[in-house]
Amino acid sequence: MNEPNKISGLTRAAGISALHEGYMPGFGNDFETEALPGALPEGMNSPQRCAYGLYGEQLSGTAFTAPSHQNERTWCYRIRPSVKHTGRFSKIDVPYWQSAPNVDPEVISLGQYRWDPVPHSDQSLTWLTGMRTMTTAGDVYTQTGMASHIYLVTASMRDEYFYSADSELLVVPQEGRLRFCTELGVIDLEPREIAILPRGLVYRVELLDGPARGFVCENYGQKFHLPSRGPIGANCMANRRDFKTPVAAFEDRDAKSRVVIKWQGQFHETSIDHSPLDVVAWHGNYAPVKYDLTTYCPIGAVLFDHPDPSIFTVLTAPSGVEGTANIDFVLFRERWMVAENTFRPPWYHKNVMSELMGNIHGQYDAKPQGFAPGGMSLHNMMLPHGPDNEAFEKASFGELRPGKLDDTMSFMFETRFPQHLTRFAAREAPLQDDYIDCWDSLKKRFDGTPEGNWD
Ligand SMILES: [Fe+2]
Repeated sequence: MNEPNKISGLTRAAGISALHEGYMPGFGNDFETEALPGALPEGMNSPQRCAYGLYGEQLSGTAFTAPSHQNERTWCYRIRPSVKHTGRFSKIDVPYWQSAPNVDPEVISLGQYRWDPVPHSDQSLTWLTGMRTMTTAGDVYTQTGMASHIYLVTASMRDEYFYSADSELLVVPQEGRLRFCTELGVIDLEPREIAILPRGLVYRVELLDGPARGFVCENYGQKFHLPSRGPIGANCMANRRDFKTPVAAFEDRDAKSRVVIKWQGQFHETSIDHSPLDVVAWHGNYAPVKYDLTTYCPIGAVLFDHPDPSIFTVLTAPSGVEGTANIDFVLFRERWMVAENTFRPPWYHKNVMSELMGNIHGQYDAKPQGFAPGGMSLHNMMLPHGPDNEAFEKASFGELRPGKLDDTMSFMFETRFPQHLTRFAAREAPLQDDYIDCWDSLKKRFDGTPEGNWD
């Protein structure tokens, strides 16, 4: 065991190869890691007395009796048990972070919507106060559905910690780098990466450089996992080795601290006199993880036609109905377009699922204009949508040589539940009133002849 090292005030396990410094590769592995030598018990979970005087504690992410292939839990060996990391609670207002059901009678959610990037203000905003809920779906009380948020972070959390009992968070940065100092280790995150913060995990979020903006999918339901590849086989799409879970890291720090907890859509605070990030060693399969989206290996049409966009699914969170996701996280990244005699952009469609998209980088092929990096769009349940006229004409008349769709990275949070706009999304965020006009100039090309009118 090498000497531990320090990052952001936390003592972190060392001895990891340079390739994965600070992280362990894999998705859903049974990991083990210790920031001090010998802190992890050998061959058992709960010794009579733990090394270093640590407390053993289990963090369960699934019911004790969940089927073994779905069962997730982590054993933590920590300076204080978690009961010392909360006291009495008081309710606080975090007015821009909303939970489902959040149906505002004055807001119309039926429609096709698109937003410009939400700009930063001169306010000092942390991960908590900078969260802006755009849509909610399902019901936080029954652990179904989701919420989508934009975060605008201009300040680090100081002696402040947070966890959500309601949800796991899928974080999609668009601008600026963030550091998540969690109970189980440190994740540094930048645009074109994503992170998953499990339900119940305590963490603090720091800003690594300038202001940060990005998207969050708050998953109230069953955890995200990798989709089945079916006939595709054992490789491509998101590969397990490209996910990274942090090594153990802890801080032994006495300081008056605030812990904020999201529980049943409400926020509560409690005061303690030390840092709760005190897990010296842990083993298990319930842990935060990050993933570099540029390692996603897309599969696509190699002769004709356009497959369903589910071909680009990175992660899926089940709903209980087989094949019908509570949430799919879908990535549209650069790729080659080679299909012959084919309308290559996404076709026109109505979908029983509700599609919320965000642009991380570049230009999206079905909407060459108006969908800016940092922007979002919503095509709700059974609302028709598809390419605008510019995209339609380009795809209908262009020469179908192999072409690289470059400089593009956008994503979709797709859910089986209709999404409701928050008051913020409808009234305060930069909603494009004219979005629906993007289909105005689509012409009638039917003239009764088999050739149609393509003038
Ligand atoms: Fe769609």
